Amino acid sequence: MPDRYAVLGNPVAHSLSPRIHALFAAQTGEDMVYEAILAPRDGFAETVRQFAAAGGRGANVTVPFKEEACRLAGRLSPRAAAAGAANTLTFDDQGIAGDNTDGAGLVRDLTANLGCPIADRRILLLGAGGAARGVLRPLLDLAPAELFVANRTAARARDLARLFPGAAGGGLEELAGRSYDLVINATSAGLAGAALPIPDAIFAPGCLAYDMLYGRQTPFLAQARRLGARVADGLGMLVEQAAEAFSVWRGVKPETATVLRELRRG
Ligand code: ATR
Repeated sequence: MPDRYAVLGNPVAHSLSPRIHALFAAQTGEDMVYEAILAPRDGFAETVRQFAAAGGRGANVTVPFKEEACRLAGRLSPRAAAAGAANTLTFDDQGIAGDNTDGAGLVRDLTANLGCPIADRRILLLGAGGAARGVLRPLLDLAPAELFVANRTAARARDLARLFPGAAGGGLEELAGRSYDLVINATSAGLAGAALPIPDAIFAPGCLAYDMLYGRQTPFLAQARRLGARVADGLGMLVEQAAEAFSVWRGVKPETATVLRELRRG
């Protein structure tokens, strides 16, 4: 019997994770299967329990359950504790271990795939929800010159930044007169096709604009492209966080470039 893994979310039907992990398993020869499981909004813990009881070895967790997964885990990695969220669960005879590979996935996509250094760069992180919180620690670990968290609701950005020494936070209106080498959009505005009220001048010459969403042309990326910035969507982050989760479970790190190329082909 191959080892069982799954992604748990709501919605989950369009998740690319089963395809990504199937490609990783074929590439590394690991004997495993990986499926998508729809968890009811009020039944995440029960879905986890059932999957583990049925022999599941681990699960990825996606929207909207990452914070709940963090609370459910009996043991947390330092990066999951810092994120306050878990996207990778491992089930063993000691219970549930929670980890978070999102930040590592973003950093790896930025540095290895996109050739964008973090050290000594001015970084702007847009948004102060779970997606932003999950990547703050790994970005700060690489010693940027500045990391400013800007959010529509300024107090939320200030509260978040206070949890992470080295970061500062405020409202979008505080961006006037500032510019950055890397601008990361961690808001969900693009899901609704909404533009962010951000000044054109935030994109410094040679800037990389990165949207953590993927599979759509967001107004944020359209604005950045129009201003001559390099742009990237979050597909690379998705593949890299999956590779990191695969390595947590199986102890082997898959190669990601061919997988990313295959997904981009559609
Ligand atoms: P996630 O876990 O995806 O981060 P979230 O916790 O709901 O989800 O956070 C969504 C983020 O996108 C927040 O930073 C939110 O700003 P507010 O804190 O002011 O609500 C931001 N966001 C969503 N829609 C937006 C919009 N139309 N304009 C600006 N910011 C938006």
